[in-house]
Amino acid sequence: MTFTGKASIYGVIGHPISHSLSPVFQNSAFSYLGLEAVYIPMDIPPEKLETAFRGLKALVNMRGLNVTIPHKEDVIHLLDEVSEEARSIGAVNTIIFEGGRAKGDNTDWVGFLKALREIVEPEDKRALVLGAGGASRAVVYALKRVGAEVFIWNRTYEKARKLADEFGLKAIRDAEEAVKRMDIIVNTTSVGLKEDDPWLFDYRLIRPDHTVVDIIYRETHLVKMAKQAGASYQTGFPMLVYQGAESFRLWTGCEPPLKIMKKSLSPYGYPKDCSRIP
Ligand code: ATR
Repeated sequence: MTFTGKASIYGVIGHPISHSLSPVFQNSAFSYLGLEAVYIPMDIPPEKLETAFRGLKALVNMRGLNVTIPHKEDVIHLLDEVSEEARSIGAVNTIIFEGGRAKGDNTDWVGFLKALREIVEPEDKRALVLGAGGASRAVVYALKRVGAEVFIWNRTYEKARKLADEFGLKAIRDAEEAVKRMDIIVNTTSVGLKEDDPWLFDYRLIRPDHTVVDIIYRETHLVKMAKQAGASYQTGFPMLVYQGAESFRLWTGCEPPLKIMKKSLSPYGYPKDCSRIP
């Protein structure tokens, strides 16, 4: 793809950013639709966020950004407007620039939900969310919004209780006891990023009627054990694509080319199981 001076600029801000796969699938979508736009990774250390953000906002052809760790909360006070959803979640992952204004939104929750719907309809289901950090909030918000019965477990119980109180949900102390009563189990902790990470609960308790989601991209022990148990399962890849697809929709007004986006990630390990790629 070549660009003229009419090209629009998009990107993702974070620190570090070299692991990000968003440029892969966003650029593949732009190019597939023939949009003259480029999506670039931008590494911004926390102490430079304000300066860098003001600079980006000053660019007339800057149309949109994704925001990732560690800026999702800190960017909020730099914005002219923040959506109700982003306020409730307390994090912005998408910024839309229009008429010199910067509007913050959150597509993590809807991305999670759309990905989840590939394997289960969550309405009226009992869902256990493992973790009470930043990533947990969008998942908890999404599940509550569609009427699932949500339970939160966290290594540090106090944090689970605080999050549960904020959303009017239940915090639980014993994950193993809870797993037996659940339909959906979602890992939002960082446990599983490394091969030798501990288990969060006895994964042998997973049954074929469980739905297990790990928002980590790689196949964690949790996902492997779910697969082995014959349960429905999902890694973090679909959520990654769907949150980005929803950002794409907000920026361009175009229907995101999901199949193209997913296909562009196959060299990076996106599940190639076609029956799961609608
Ligand atoms: P993120 O924004 O990615 O959610 P975070 O806010 O630092 O990151 O949250 C990390 C989550 O992983 C927390 O729920 C954390 O549990 P604590 O609140 O008890 O720290 C969880 N976590 C990290 N390492 C863990 C471990 N070894 N066992 C269980 N939970 C762990």
